[in-house]
Amino acid sequence: MAKSYDRILISLDVGTTKMCVLVANQLDNRSLEIIGVGKAPSDGLRKGVVVDIAKTVHSIKTALKEAELMAGFTIDAANVGISGGHIQSINSHGMVPITKGEVREQDINNVLAAAKAIPLEQGYQILHVLPQYFIIDGRDRIQDPRGMHGVRLEVQAHIILGALASVQNLVTCCEMAGVKVTDLVLEQLASAHAVLSADERELGVGVLDIGGGTSDFAIYQNGSIRHTMVLPVAGNHFTNDIAIGLRTTVHDAERIKKVYGLVCSELLEKDDLIEIEMVQGAQKQFAQLSDLVNIIHPRARELFSLVNENINKHQLRHCMSTGLVLTGGGSLLTGMRELAQEVFEMPVRLGSPRVAYDLPETLDNPIYATAYGLLLDAVAKERNVLFSSGDAPLAKRALMRMKSWVADFF
Ligand SMILES: Nc1ncnc2c1ncn2[C@@H]1O[C@H](COP(=O)(O)OP(=O)(O)OP(=O)(O)O)[C@@H](O)[C@H]1O
Ligand SMILES: [Mg+2]
Repeated sequence: MAKSYDRILISLDVGTTKMCVLVANQLDNRSLEIIGVGKAPSDGLRKGVVVDIAKTVHSIKTALKEAELMAGFTIDAANVGISGGHIQSINSHGMVPITKGEVREQDINNVLAAAKAIPLEQGYQILHVLPQYFIIDGRDRIQDPRGMHGVRLEVQAHIILGALASVQNLVTCCEMAGVKVTDLVLEQLASAHAVLSADERELGVGVLDIGGGTSDFAIYQNGSIRHTMVLPVAGNHFTNDIAIGLRTTVHDAERIKKVYGLVCSELLEKDDLIEIEMVQGAQKQFAQLSDLVNIIHPRARELFSLVNENINKHQLRHCMSTGLVLTGGGSLLTGMRELAQEVFEMPVRLGSPRVAYDLPETLDNPIYATAYGLLLDAVAKERNVLFSSGDAPLAKRALMRMKSWVADFF
């Protein structure tokens, strides 16, 4: 990219339903000006994972072209989001002696290396090592240990793992579309950047990005990540269930879903008929509104219950003292917030990108949370020394992103 563009930030959200490219001009430390937006339908992914390289490359290229036209220059690199059912996470602990009696950068690197020394399933790699807090000689919950005195340094870290093949396929698609992957960021971490306030992250909050193919969940407390989970159930499953249950086309099921959502009780009392397209041909038929409710309600409840069970299983309810923030296109389903409140028994709000500057109004929507959060992530990283691994292959470099996340923690 030309030197005059060295303050340009670019994000690429490779979603199951849409590709989204955002180009921003970083005005100062805090504000960004969006100068390019590109969007294209995506159908080369299933549940967040590339299943058709040609289709994925085509969609990325289409979105890129649109963003390039608007920005007025060629895009050759981007911060890219990653998700999918292959993503796993665990909490890990590391402990090392403090070599010179005072914590230095090297001690921090050592303790993080100790934390990431975990047995890995074959074909899996570490994507991120996210420090939650440090402990010096038993003194707990230290956020930045640099310069502190002691003998023993410990870290509690959250480790994100990804299947090497899925990561490589994503990086290959980006490269084939002409985009170098400067960084791979777990999508819910990006979305959290975009929709959570600093207070929420500090006091404790959950964020659930309900996309088309996956629902990506994260919990923050004391300003750092506590927990992550990717669930391969999201908006497209609602659409498919409606298409199968009402015997209509996927296209019409998508329309019905957006029009009726979870259907309010007043509408249901009348139990009106809804007009639907038949799968074969253009002929129309009618279905009971109650049939739609019986299809979509259990699916939405199931999605929330799976997340709720996960929270309970890991005993993390107390970490979500400010509640839950729903984002992603699936959160736009009418009635989702109310149902989530009922299932989780905590305050729930919808999250659109939080902007510190004039964002084009069209981007003020939960479906852009990941793409916008990827830009904010790039801003945060720019403050730190970016990790560079020379000529290492891109997939490998992306997997070695750990170091800049470590830098980002401070
Ligand atoms: N108004 C709406 N009402 C209900 N659902 C909606 C609405 N708008 C979008 N959706 C649903 O949101 C989903 C797409 O959301 P989003 O754009 O966040 O997904 P994605 O990023 O492409 O997918 P993923 O993150 O899973 O890879 C689709 O299932 C779509 O039907
Ligand atoms: Mg998404």
